[in-house]
Amino acid sequence: MPENRGLSRVQHVVGGVGVTPPEGSVVACDVGEKRIATGRCYREEAGVSDRVDLQLAAALEMLDRLRAADRDGSSDFAFIDAGKENQLYDYERTRQLLYPGGLMVIDITLWLGGVAEVTRQDPGTCAVRALNQHVHTDSRVHLGLLPVADGPTLERKV
Ligand SMILES: C[S@@+](CC[C@H](N)C(=O)[O-])C[C@H]1O[C@@H](n2cnc3c(N)ncnc32)[C@H](O)[C@@H]1O
Repeated sequence: MPENRGLSRVQHVVGGVGVTPPEGSVVACDVGEKRIATGRCYREEAGVSDRVDLQLAAALEMLDRLRAADRDGSSDFAFIDAGKENQLYDYERTRQLLYPGGLMVIDITLWLGGVAEVTRQDPGTCAVRALNQHVHTDSRVHLGLLPVADGPTLERKV
């Protein structure tokens, strides 16, 4: 049975700025300068600058940096909501960063229902479908899908 550590240690957020838990720290990235600048303002205002690392960086860049810094297995929670085309790579790297029992949320996996429309073959929709198929058969995680809004997929690392 994997350990349940709650959200007390580290969170990784890919695409967006994250929400700070009462304890622990957040590492987040976004390629949008404005989004990171706004996040940094709120971080100052909330007095959590020492615990929230907001990086103006592409997801793969941040995730590779964390893995190179020997952070595999360090994260309680990860949220993936960056560009869809690289999501499969974001997923694989993020899974390595989670400890066994850690939770990952992948946002927008129903793509407003677009994944079920066979005529939609644009790169974004195809990438979301490919990730859904990949995680569906991934025995390294326990999987759930919330059938609300854009369909966040929830995963617990085995
Ligand atoms: C749907 S929005 C996510 C919003 C975010 N969940 C939040 O609440 O702040 C997608 C975000 O991913 C960012 N993004 C797109 N491609 C990215 C990449 N390769 N690496 C990091 N962020 C990326 C965009 O700039 C955008 O802010």
